[in-house]
Amino acid sequence: MMMRRFYCTAGAGMEDLLADEVKHKLAATEVEQIPGRVFFCSNAHLHTVTQLKSAERLFLLLRKAAPISIPNNPAKAAVVVQQSIVGHADMWKQNVLTWTTLQGELHDRQHRGQKRKREEEDILNLDATATNSLSSNIQLGKDPPSFRVSCRCSGVIARSYTSQRLSRIIGMAIKEKLGWKVDLREPKLEVNVYLSDDHCIVGMPLLKHPLASRHYMKHNGLRSTIAWAMTSLCPKQLIDCVILDPMCGVGAVLLEAAQDCSSAVFLGMDIEISQLQKAAENVKAAGIEGRVHLIQCSAMEIPLNDGAVDAVLCDVPFGRKFSCSTDMATALPLLLKEMERVLRVGGHLVLLLSLQLSAQLKKIICKHNQHANSSDTQRVRTDPTNANNECTDTPENLMRYKSSSETPILITSLQAHKTHKVSLGSTDAFIHTFTKVQPEMCSH
Ligand SMILES: C[S@@+](CC[C@H](N)C(=O)[O-])C[C@H]1O[C@@H](n2cnc3c(N)ncnc32)[C@H](O)[C@@H]1O
Repeated sequence: MMMRRFYCTAGAGMEDLLADEVKHKLAATEVEQIPGRVFFCSNAHLHTVTQLKSAERLFLLLRKAAPISIPNNPAKAAVVVQQSIVGHADMWKQNVLTWTTLQGELHDRQHRGQKRKREEEDILNLDATATNSLSSNIQLGKDPPSFRVSCRCSGVIARSYTSQRLSRIIGMAIKEKLGWKVDLREPKLEVNVYLSDDHCIVGMPLLKHPLASRHYMKHNGLRSTIAWAMTSLCPKQLIDCVILDPMCGVGAVLLEAAQDCSSAVFLGMDIEISQLQKAAENVKAAGIEGRVHLIQCSAMEIPLNDGAVDAVLCDVPFGRKFSCSTDMATALPLLLKEMERVLRVGGHLVLLLSLQLSAQLKKIICKHNQHANSSDTQRVRTDPTNANNECTDTPENLMRYKSSSETPILITSLQAHKTHKVSLGSTDAFIHTFTKVQPEMCSH
């Protein structure tokens, strides 16, 4: 099969994960990343490429070149665009052919899937209209294809040009060179151009929908790429195990974990019944009812025995979208203690936290040698302003982390691995990973 050049867009902080994913899942070569984009070559079937979990959108790469500067004079601008963005007609012909072949791969697969479904349902009459409408989507025919240009620009170029104006200039240049027809509403082809101080990138999206919109999510919760990243950053692959999300909401984290851990069993808990109802609908839409058990309870009192689960994945509420009645800054020590209790030794904890909660987490997960002389392992001796996390025992500090039992909490059995910064759009968040060890083995 022919090697194709693709690129995917990715949220801030997801580029490394996407680069690893294309290497492992697609055996991709020439993998290169820039902020917000990962480029790669692969001869994998397009259906396999569309299974990427950390990407936002998927494109066929037409051109990746050095940055260009576009003069203010319209006539001169048109010449630069013609030379540096549009280039040779042969390059477009070749890429449109590749794009059409890739659409054909997807169509064949969809068609085979539809056919199998029909056979299964014992429907004898082929639904010719559905099949024909799919075919018409991929056939460009003899007439020049219709197209539209979407340009995004940043840096110096954005000071002189708006994206709309550049899209129009590039569109005119393509029309002139290739004879294609502009159609802003329902074009056959889309051309995406990204111009920055560092790059000039031209591509064609291969799918109408972002890869990041999962067909199995009827109700959206945490961004699916971030939910997937939580499992992927787990220190060890989760196989044949029990995975708990004690604040599961609509189940985004569990559903993403279920994609990669096909032999695992999942427990989803939430205090809100309405969230669990949505989670149940998502689980049903994903067809994994038998593997996910949903329970209404508080994450502060998990109805499980000590050491009952192999992994805990939790997107702890913060920010405006997921603010809840519990003050998480106060509840975090107790919440962590409970998650640590139900985790078996050797099991993994993955948490998504805000910057503020991350700072607090550091104080609760106290270094082993900092409490070595303490006879009371429940006692935390920390100061949130103490950058070295050295133990201090002032009454004020002890009060800061007091739990409902009036006893400050110290967690000594969680060994920290990586912390990974990701963007949730309006705010940044941090994925923290830990392994539970015997307290005496804990060394950081
Ligand atoms: C950040 S949201 C989780 C979002 C989830 N990852 C999703 O995709 O929908 C946090 C969830 O915690 C739940 N929650 C808040 N306090 C809780 C508690 N004490 N025990 C259990 N769940 C709680 C909320 O009902 C909410 O559904």
